Amino acid sequence: MKSIDYGRTDGRRDYIFGDAELRRGICEKLISLMKESGYKETVTPTAEYYDVFSADPTRPMGNSVYKFTDEQNRLMALRCDCTVPIARIAATKLADTPLPYRLFYCQNVFSAPTMGNRLTEETQCGAELIGTNAQNPLDADVEILELASKSMEKLFGLNFNIEIGHGKLFTTLAELYGIGDETAETVRKLIETKNFASIETMNIPKAFKMLPKMFGSASEEDLAGLDAIVSETGSEKIKQIIDYIKSIITSLKEKGYGDCLSFDLGLVGRLDYYTGIIFGGFVKGLGHAVLLGGRYDNLTANFGRALAATGFSVTVDDIFDLLKDKKNEATIAAPARPIRIALTKGRLEKKTIELFEKNGIDCSSLINKGRKLVFPLQNGKFEVMLVKSRDVITYVERGVCDLGIVGSDTIAEYGTSVYELADLGFGACRMALAGPAKYKNDPDSFFGGYSKKIIATKFVNIAKRYAAAKKADVETVSIEGSVELAPILGLADGIVDIVETGDTLRENGLEIIEEIFPISARIVANIAATKLRKKAIDEILFEVFKV
Ligand code: PRP
Repeated sequence: MKSIDYGRTDGRRDYIFGDAELRRGICEKLISLMKESGYKETVTPTAEYYDVFSADPTRPMGNSVYKFTDEQNRLMALRCDCTVPIARIAATKLADTPLPYRLFYCQNVFSAPTMGNRLTEETQCGAELIGTNAQNPLDADVEILELASKSMEKLFGLNFNIEIGHGKLFTTLAELYGIGDETAETVRKLIETKNFASIETMNIPKAFKMLPKMFGSASEEDLAGLDAIVSETGSEKIKQIIDYIKSIITSLKEKGYGDCLSFDLGLVGRLDYYTGIIFGGFVKGLGHAVLLGGRYDNLTANFGRALAATGFSVTVDDIFDLLKDKKNEATIAAPARPIRIALTKGRLEKKTIELFEKNGIDCSSLINKGRKLVFPLQNGKFEVMLVKSRDVITYVERGVCDLGIVGSDTIAEYGTSVYELADLGFGACRMALAGPAKYKNDPDSFFGGYSKKIIATKFVNIAKRYAAAKKADVETVSIEGSVELAPILGLADGIVDIVETGDTLRENGLEIIEEIFPISARIVANIAATKLRKKAIDEILFEVFKV
């Protein structure tokens, strides 16, 4: 039997001594606020019938749910979400209780890791306001957003940002322009990741291309900018959505949270779950949202009773990470540091320096770098760090760097939770399947026959996705460099690798079998930084990159 290391909890956490106290303190602060605000605690079972979670087609739970059977062979699931069980209770057990319901929870959720090293057990604390007037959701949404803002304030003072979007904006646009479901999902994903470069190349109405760029502060000037999408579409429904976002922000400004608010029309969310506003809360020092919420008027109907509903939740473990270190606490409130750019060493480094110099930036320290790794440029206005391509994604994803310059091959292989702000155009090459000359330009013969093909690559995820799209039985072998050797020495039938000039393939007697996708250098951005430091990032994009 494989021995277990009992000191490691792999994706779950032990909280010990002071850590446990800090964690408990965070929960207590949030709970006392929710109680003071008139919300009542709800505790739901750790295990529910699986059907409770799978009842809602708009929230596919996929493989991330831990499932098991109970003593009567019924399929059960560990609680993977706190809102769904509360919707079940509201629709069933509370049928005789007068509306509306103000409920809060502080309990753990369990989910298999679907990305990187996310925790598989997390504590979430949240509030749900269920059963208010569906025709007039404004007061309920303002109440929930005020409670979300107060929760953040209690933990971080006024050093946070809540960003507001609308779950119906994208679907309304898709209906208006009649784009099909498949295209809609592709466009939605590109908007969600602010992938400006790919959206620009698509043949879709201009309104979709405008969405990811439409984010800003709660200032009157920025809010007035929202009207551009109304003029572009000429749609009354879009006007109502924009007016609603403006009313929400105006009401919250009156409650003193104007400086902590922003809007983002690119916050498009999952297609059907959110039926009104959606929002996320961000704090300096954490690369992703610490708070998430929105209106979900269709959820309780899955349990037999339609009720308008709005709510939010915060992840206590994320807050713990932010507050456990006094240094972090100082960072949250500190004046902003210079914008940091992680730059891929090697070929992209040279091209980026050329671009900087062309745009009038003195790069002498970066050119004569010696063994240094951090380079303040433009009198310290921004800093450049030289790192390996994979690490650009890690530094930017974690928020240690705000921006990164990296090839689209690396993003396709690893990057899922960064924004992709621009295509720099340089570093152009191709991802390709290559192998012996007999397969030249003939993927069908390469994948044909009954025997499994072995592909050597540095890009295992890309190769696997490519093979799956070809419906081919393929085994991938991970190789760190000089991948061309693998088919020459008989380790693999072919390779999936970058081809720039094609010299390496030619000199080793290999040919391109099929090009998979074109590659170029991209500017990626940390999600939280684009909200919290929009102005500074915009300045760098404009002055330093001229995009
Ligand atoms: C890349 C790639 C190919 C080569 C292609 O390797 O993996 O081997 O460049 O370029 P070409 O088409 O211009 O010949 P890199 O030089 O980055 O070194 P590595 O193989 O050690 O990763």
